[in-house]
Amino acid sequence: MNRERLTYLWKYYPNQREEEVWGLIDNVLNKRDKDNMKNVLEIGVELGGSSVFWKDFCMSNGGFYIGLDIEPNRRLKEVDLAYPDLEIYYVDGDSTKKETILEVKELIDAKGKVDFLFLDGDHASETVYLDVVNYYPFLKEGGVFAFHDYLEPPVQEAVDILKRDNIISYSSDGLFATEYSKSVDNMGIYYFIKE
Ligand SMILES: C[S@@+](CC[C@H](N)C(=O)[O-])C[C@H]1O[C@@H](n2cnc3c(N)ncnc32)[C@H](O)[C@@H]1O
Repeated sequence: MNRERLTYLWKYYPNQREEEVWGLIDNVLNKRDKDNMKNVLEIGVELGGSSVFWKDFCMSNGGFYIGLDIEPNRRLKEVDLAYPDLEIYYVDGDSTKKETILEVKELIDAKGKVDFLFLDGDHASETVYLDVVNYYPFLKEGGVFAFHDYLEPPVQEAVDILKRDNIISYSSDGLFATEYSKSVDNMGIYYFIKE
C-alpha cells in the first residue's frame, strides 16, 4: 500500500494516527511477501476505520479478514462495500469469553492461521494479557502482532508481563512502528514478529 492510498482510506474514521499507521505499513507490512501478509485478525473493530488498512492487504494478496468486537452495532456498513470480493468474517462478542474464542478458533481451523494480529480491543491490562494468551496461537510463526496504544500504562504493563512469563516468543524485542510512535501521548503502535 502506498501513502496516497492510506490517506484516501482515512475517510472511514480510524481511531489511529496516520503517521503511526504509515510507520507500521511502510516499515513492516509492505516488506512482507504476499503469501505472508494476506490473512488478518483484528480485535477491536469499532466503526471499521482501521479494518480497511488490513482489508486492503487481504484483498490484494488473496486472503481473508476476521474482525472481533463486543459492540457490532457501531460498525459502518459502507466500509465493506469497498471490498465486495473479499472474505470478511465478523465475530461479535467479548474477546475474553470462551464462546467468542471458540468461534474464532472454528474460523481459523477452517481457513488457516493469520499473518497479522492487530490488538486494539479493551485496553485494561488483564484483557490485553488474556487477548494475547487466547489469540496468539492463531497467528502463524513469523507473523506480526501489533498492539495499539502501547503508551497507555495498562497495555505496557500487560506486554511486560507477557514477556516476563514467556507467553510470547519473538525474534526481536518489541519495536515501535516509527520514532513518531514514541512521542504521541497515550498511543503508540508496538509490534513483535512471532518466532
Ligand atoms: C479503540 S476501539 C478500536 C478502534 C479501531 N481499531 C480503529 O482504529 O478504528 C476499541 C474497540 O474494542 C472494543 N472492545 C472493548 N472491549 C472489548 C472486548 N472485551 N471484546 C471485544 N471487543 C472489545 C470496543 O467495542 C471498541 O470498538
